[in-house]
Amino acid sequence: MLNKNLLLIGGGNMGTALLRGILKAKLTPPRQITVVDVHQGRLAELKKAYKIHADSEAAPHVPEAAVIILAIKPQTLNEVLDRIREAVKPEQLIISIIAGVESAYIRDRIGKKNPVIRVMPNIAATVDAAASALAGCPPATDEHFRIAEAIFGAVGEVVKVDEHHLDAVTGLSGSGPAYIYMIIEALCDGGVKMGLPRDVAMKLATQTVFGAAKLVRDTGAHPATLKDQVTTPAGTTIAAVHELEERGLRAMLISAVVTATERSRELNRRVAGQQSG
Ligand SMILES: NC(=O)c1ccc[n+]([C@@H]2O[C@H](COP(=O)([O-])OP(=O)(O)OC[C@H]3O[C@@H](n4cnc5c(N)ncnc54)[C@H](OP(=O)(O)O)[C@@H]3O)[C@@H](O)[C@H]2O)c1
Repeated sequence: MLNKNLLLIGGGNMGTALLRGILKAKLTPPRQITVVDVHQGRLAELKKAYKIHADSEAAPHVPEAAVIILAIKPQTLNEVLDRIREAVKPEQLIISIIAGVESAYIRDRIGKKNPVIRVMPNIAATVDAAASALAGCPPATDEHFRIAEAIFGAVGEVVKVDEHHLDAVTGLSGSGPAYIYMIIEALCDGGVKMGLPRDVAMKLATQTVFGAAKLVRDTGAHPATLKDQVTTPAGTTIAAVHELEERGLRAMLISAVVTATERSRELNRRVAGQQSG
């Protein structure tokens, strides 16, 4: 239980996922949460569904907030920071999930030495299965990280990293759901090619990926150990594993993470140029 007043700026996909997670985990009661968004219809929906406070203006709600969560797009960040700056107090924790914007940039633009924690979650936050990485800059303390871990722990798994690793996080878990969707789709097509009805193949492919991931997570065993346990000598699985090795599945996935990380660095340099420009 955090029991802190939260101001959530941006009630879109991620903002709504966080709101739902926070309430489901009973971290803070709805009456202590205010969501700010520019869409009146969206605000009305959130207010009705979650019984939180909702408004189109953030600044009036800043003074009573202990934690301010920024869940808006990078292009609206400067405008939002400039509107709330005057009302912000130095002890308030600011958490940002905005891709590509450094925590120190937000701290310095507010200009009051606030603790800022930057988080890279992923889309699975919408089903409470996110992989989120947290990073921050001084003066963020362990207590501030504990608050952020509680919030993002409500929608999945959390790790703490150095901020310069967030591009690699983006390349792995930020973009990763798309790689796995492609794998599920391909496994399903394989089943269809071999005569399975598509709905059956899709169910089997999805549950296979889910079950394999759950086994790695729940047992803590190395994936190679689990793979060895299901490869009978001269059996079907080792024949398929050989095929995957020959066609470079693992090298391909490693390259995908490297390429996405490099692209993230490139885009972040562009965002930084636009923010300061
Ligand atoms: N989606 C993901 O998987 C993911 C993963 C990691 C990080 N992120 C980051 O999370 C952030 C939010 O992403 P999202 O997918 O949730 O975006 P989104 O669905 O577009 O949500 C942002 C919301 O904020 C609203 N907004 C715009 N200007 C505002 C203002 N001045 N004050 C208050 N609200 C305002 C937007 O309205 P309009 O639609 O009118 O602009 C929209 O409703 C992004 O910075 C993104 O980089 C997203």
